[in-house]
Amino acid sequence: MIAIATASQKGGVGKTTLCINLAYSLAKRGWRVLLVDTDPQGAVGLSLAKSAKTRDGFYEFLMRGGDLNRIVVPTRLPELEIITAGRPETCSREGWAVHEVPGRLADLLRAAELRGVDVVLLDTAAGVSGTTEAVVKACDFVILPQQAEPLAIRSVPHLLETLARFRAEGAGVRVAGILLTMVMNDQAMSVKVARELREMLPANLMFQQSIPRLPSFLDASALGVPVALTKRHPPPEALIFDQIAAELEQRTDLYKPTEKEPGHASLMD
Ligand SMILES: Nc1ncnc2c1ncn2[C@@H]1O[C@H](COP(=O)(O)OP(=O)(O)OP(=O)(O)O)[C@@H](O)[C@H]1O
Ligand SMILES: [Mg+2]
Repeated sequence: MIAIATASQKGGVGKTTLCINLAYSLAKRGWRVLLVDTDPQGAVGLSLAKSAKTRDGFYEFLMRGGDLNRIVVPTRLPELEIITAGRPETCSREGWAVHEVPGRLADLLRAAELRGVDVVLLDTAAGVSGTTEAVVKACDFVILPQQAEPLAIRSVPHLLETLARFRAEGAGVRVAGILLTMVMNDQAMSVKVARELREMLPANLMFQQSIPRLPSFLDASALGVPVALTKRHPPPEALIFDQIAAELEQRTDLYKPTEKEPGHASLMD
């Protein structure tokens, strides 16, 4: 099992959109996925499940621990399950022990592994301090969604330095990749920033695939579904997340062919 967090310094860069759509693509590709909403705003839960605000979730688990299976919510895809954020406001009123958070996160990941989960994908709030810092440090990998805008040239190195500090402090988290989001291919500035980032960063640090800015992503959030489910047959942009999922499998060693596995399937008997 691997645990992957998203992280960004700035808000609104497309983390939640990525998490919902990537979780769906990974599940469709046959992985057992647990999508965990660690954002106190509860964006994943609120967009996917109407009852999200009334059930216990991630924050109740952080505060009290207990049986993880109780807070796992199924979806129509058997391979995809979700843990909503819960009610962080109640949790903070009851007071909570910050020093217990890393242990609880480790418990959560262990329980997910016992459940048979292949990938835990954790959506985070903007910024990399507080709970998000603990979440990123607990994970094996982090994906860094980055908007294609001039500020990125300064903010990406800064974020990479922060992650290097986490590693120096003993965390094992590695960067799965920087993922450009909201790219406007018809805007010279957006294309220029994308090119400059690729030139500036070590080879292979960025996902080959980027996410264009498209109105259909807004429509999907409004409907509360992955973009693949906005039409009876998935629209072309849904394939973007299949491509990101396939890249992620390579980047994280999620897919390791074994001696026992033939590595290919037969089409007929
Ligand atoms: N590629 C895209 N094209 C167009 N709109 C997008 C795209 N990605 C995200 N959006 C929209 O932009 C807004 C912010 O996206 P999202 O909520 O995924 O960002 P976030 O990084 O999770 O934000 P926060 O930091 O507040 O949690 C949403 O309304 C979403 O529908
Ligand atoms: Mg979000």
